[in-house]
Amino acid sequence: MWDLTLPSLCATFEKYFTVGNIVTPEELDDAELMAMYKHHYNSVTAENAMKPEAVSSAPGVYNFEHADKIVKWAEENKMMLVGHTLVWHAQSAKWLNRNEDGTPLPRAQAKANMEAFIKEYVGRYSGKIYSWDVVNEAFIDSSGSEPYNGNWRDYLRRETENPRAVGHWYLAYANGAGEGESGADYMFDAFYFARKYDPKAILYFNEYNEEFPHKRHAIVDMVNDLNAEWRAHPEYDGRLLVEGIGMQSHHNHIHTDVDRVRAALELYSKTGTKISITEMDFTFGSESEPANPLSPEESKKQAETHAALFALFMEFSAHIERVTLWGKNDGQSWRKWGSPHLFDENCQAKEAFHAIISLVK
Ligand code: GLA
Repeated sequence: MWDLTLPSLCATFEKYFTVGNIVTPEELDDAELMAMYKHHYNSVTAENAMKPEAVSSAPGVYNFEHADKIVKWAEENKMMLVGHTLVWHAQSAKWLNRNEDGTPLPRAQAKANMEAFIKEYVGRYSGKIYSWDVVNEAFIDSSGSEPYNGNWRDYLRRETENPRAVGHWYLAYANGAGEGESGADYMFDAFYFARKYDPKAILYFNEYNEEFPHKRHAIVDMVNDLNAEWRAHPEYDGRLLVEGIGMQSHHNHIHTDVDRVRAALELYSKTGTKISITEMDFTFGSESEPANPLSPEESKKQAETHAALFALFMEFSAHIERVTLWGKNDGQSWRKWGSPHLFDENCQAKEAFHAIISLVK
């Protein structure tokens, strides 16, 4: 049972940023859950229902039933709605960039498919979506031993199998690239088409492990390059093309280092884009255990690190417009083994919840 006498997360952080979470279309029919949602959150992302494969399975075939339901609910409840996501290596139908056998489509066909998809999807909700995660997870996880080489294009995903490097859009755009062109050109096109079919939406690039050195440099250089290319474009509209950097923030107690998050925020805030924390969860248990209750020490550490991160977000709130948590309680999380949320599986507020609330005086 949710306790709605607890302080509201979004009201607590109102002066700093909006606070969001994820929903499924079915959850919107659960009145008790939605009462909790409206108590704590003022922005919303669809957990899966607005991913590419959820809206289109074949050329010209679209199913907007679930997305429509979420868009309508967000409008009726005055939620800031995030469109998640358009151009991604995962959870996307083959027709966009691959043949049936998995080989890449020719560049021109992939580009035409990208435009058709974005026109149909983004165009349908034009004016109703606050921001789009236009491109999700474009960069590889680099081993980190060699220094960043200064060329963001070298760090784009472009493999067919390795889950940490799969990049179907890159491979298709490379298939038939002419002089001066490369697989990396899909990035500009994705943002260009999103701007074209919903000029009001704020366009984000969204990434995980986004605070690690190679990725953070590649992201910043990519954002600056695409924005420079847009400034020189005949249709330049006086705005940035990539207007936001989404930091997924899937943290864990082994690798997360608050100083590294600070370093990323410092770099990102210099690009002139907005920043959002887009999918935050913070695991503490071991990966091998199912639903793992935290020890008192782990609970304390989870509270301290949440508080340190939220304090950082408040410090950078001139740049951060939204903090979205990827799960409402430990029981329903995709990383439930690590008890990653502010509420436990019985919906009781954890130490981490009280720790972040007490940051705001
Ligand atoms: C990525 C995606 C999310 C979601 C999570 C796992 O971070 O951006 O949409 O799929 O993985 O739930």
